[in-house]
Amino acid sequence: MAFLLSGWLAHAQEVKALYKNKDASIEERIEDLIPRMTLEEKVLQMNQWTYGKNANPNNIETAMKKVRPEIGSLIYRSTNPLFRNQIQKKAMEESRLGIPIIFGFDAIHGYKTVFPIPLAQACTWDVELVRRSCEVSARECWLSGVDWTFSPMIDVARDPRWGRVAEGYGEDSYANAAFAVAAVQGYQGDSLADKYTIAACLKHYVGYSLSEGGRDYHYSDVSGQTLWETFMPPYRAGVAAGAATLMSGFNDISGVPASANYYTLTEILKKRWGHDGFVVSDWGSVENLIAQGVAKDRKEAGFKSFMAGVEMDMVDDVYVENLPQLVEEGMVPMSSIDEAVRRILRVKFRLGLFDQPYVDDIPEKDRYLRPTDLALAEQIAAESMVLLKNENQLLPIQPTAKKLAIIGPMVMDSVNLMGSWEGMGEPRHVSTIYNGLQKEFGADTKLIYAKGCAFDGTDTLGFAEARKAAMEADMVLLFLGEQKKWSGENGSRSSIALPNIQEKLMEAIYETGKPIVLVLSNGRPLELLRLNELAGAILEIWQPGTMGGAAVAGILSGRINPSGKLSITFPRTVGQIPMYYNMRRPARWMGYYQDIDKEPMYWLGHGLSYTTYSYGELQLSARKINKDEKIRARIEVSNMGIRDGKEAVLWFISDPVASVSRPVKELKFFEKKHIDANGVQVYEFEIDPGRDLSFYDKNGVKHLESGRYLVQVQDEKVEFEIVD
Ligand code: BGC
Repeated sequence: MAFLLSGWLAHAQEVKALYKNKDASIEERIEDLIPRMTLEEKVLQMNQWTYGKNANPNNIETAMKKVRPEIGSLIYRSTNPLFRNQIQKKAMEESRLGIPIIFGFDAIHGYKTVFPIPLAQACTWDVELVRRSCEVSARECWLSGVDWTFSPMIDVARDPRWGRVAEGYGEDSYANAAFAVAAVQGYQGDSLADKYTIAACLKHYVGYSLSEGGRDYHYSDVSGQTLWETFMPPYRAGVAAGAATLMSGFNDISGVPASANYYTLTEILKKRWGHDGFVVSDWGSVENLIAQGVAKDRKEAGFKSFMAGVEMDMVDDVYVENLPQLVEEGMVPMSSIDEAVRRILRVKFRLGLFDQPYVDDIPEKDRYLRPTDLALAEQIAAESMVLLKNENQLLPIQPTAKKLAIIGPMVMDSVNLMGSWEGMGEPRHVSTIYNGLQKEFGADTKLIYAKGCAFDGTDTLGFAEARKAAMEADMVLLFLGEQKKWSGENGSRSSIALPNIQEKLMEAIYETGKPIVLVLSNGRPLELLRLNELAGAILEIWQPGTMGGAAVAGILSGRINPSGKLSITFPRTVGQIPMYYNMRRPARWMGYYQDIDKEPMYWLGHGLSYTTYSYGELQLSARKINKDEKIRARIEVSNMGIRDGKEAVLWFISDPVASVSRPVKELKFFEKKHIDANGVQVYEFEIDPGRDLSFYDKNGVKHLESGRYLVQVQDEKVEFEIVD
């Protein structure tokens, strides 16, 4: 009887607590929960602590705190779902209200299965591949206890000195927007409440990539015009795609730091775009307001950041220490605290955490590195690799070449191939270049390996052995590149050339007279001024992740026809920076450097194939339309060779005369298709004036002007007109 009674009581309480009733709407549940919370409980929801070993040397933390069951979020750096479930159990059962914790982690280009760095993924020009990579990453995260990834990074990056150029989708705003949408869809799926879906986080809002001189964490001078036409569109697209959260940047946006910027965080994001999830600060970026000189102490930093629209404080405890007092002093209204908590709870409800707080524990082999996921990682790696140069069809390697010299510090590497932010990727799972080549070429091809030199330093002792290997071989495959820590966060470089020792190694090998295929693995565009001349062929493989070795071997052998095209321009030298394809028109075109060619080494969009594509005539369905009509543009592309291939067509628009000067051309659409040997594919782009021909002014107002426009594919341009 007593048992029955207590059961009935518990049941009655359940019924009373509307927020626990999964049949009620999310908004009803939130409004039921907030009034039950004390100020302390609310503020704790707005804080993020950490759990597990810190692998980021840039993120300095005080001793790890004992997890409080009321904490809003943890950065979860363990792969063990059971620990997560244990901690979650504390939150559900030991906190007064049983509010689940949201567990976050930086799965930037994969979790255990490491995909190529995002800069490389963009070179696939295939949004579906990017979506699928994020879907795999989400599944591996979810099964490890991670509900939320701090990805995608969509900072349009035009300064290759900046190490974080590796983490985004390159120099173009439209491309970043398209891949942002793909990433959000991949992580979040159809419903955040589903198994294997996790919340995305658009970062670093906004303008971070303009850090002066490419020095990380520095001032970014962002004009209203540039903010709106270059930096905002990817965020706007990501928000429209339903991204649950955003992260505010470290950067100071023209005098108002990103983590204290009411205009970007509240006026635009929340009010104009209607984002109803939450914003988390970057690591310590609330406290950083003191260093940036806009707050005298932690209390003022917390006040400014919170009032600007940052709802969750990543690790620095400024909110937890100061917000209660700020509320008591009347500086921060309780209604604002409630609104912040509302946004955080909304994401937790949407994730289904209240109703299903725990994740499944399945064997590791079913969780990670599944054969289908590895196959996808290999495909993305292969399609992200860019054949920059191929004189006299040096590639693919002819079957007659039976002795290959395999030289360079990258050959045996299993660490740097993963790139920065490798998630939980492990070197032991990486297909090295050597392994890839061995498998690909089999026993009847002799691979003569010599390291040659280290990534850096002055030791030339290995040169002799490398030259000997070259002399013995039919051709040389030279694998040079960057270590992973040379890019990524705080991975800026003043030079974008390879270290002198690597260039010297190439010169030493060149003297042997053997043909050289240069294979580059790096996290940014490189200065190839000297090396370009010495190489017969150059293959850019970026930091290709777990399956990199297999993919590169497939391209070298010809099993895979390369189809990647650059998502970012390679300047000739560091002195040409900034150099990007959609610069504005200068007053006089002769304004270039006296001492160097005016063109970069390779523009965005450059990338060769083992077959030849012939582009037909660019046709338009009309040449004159009203603003509310559309034009269909169409082009046929023929594969003239004997190999199947994949070709990405990039569609550009240019607006020669407008009330605000426009870039020489702007990417508006891209599509990649398979084309059989001797086959033809039709590519179409529907030009929607409101979407594709309008432009933002410095206040973020869009204008569509009548007049002349051009649509362009490769070098072919066709003019059309918009009439009032
Ligand atoms: C980085 C972010 C990252 C965060 C959490 C920061 O230092 O700037 O990109 O998400 O750390 O690890």
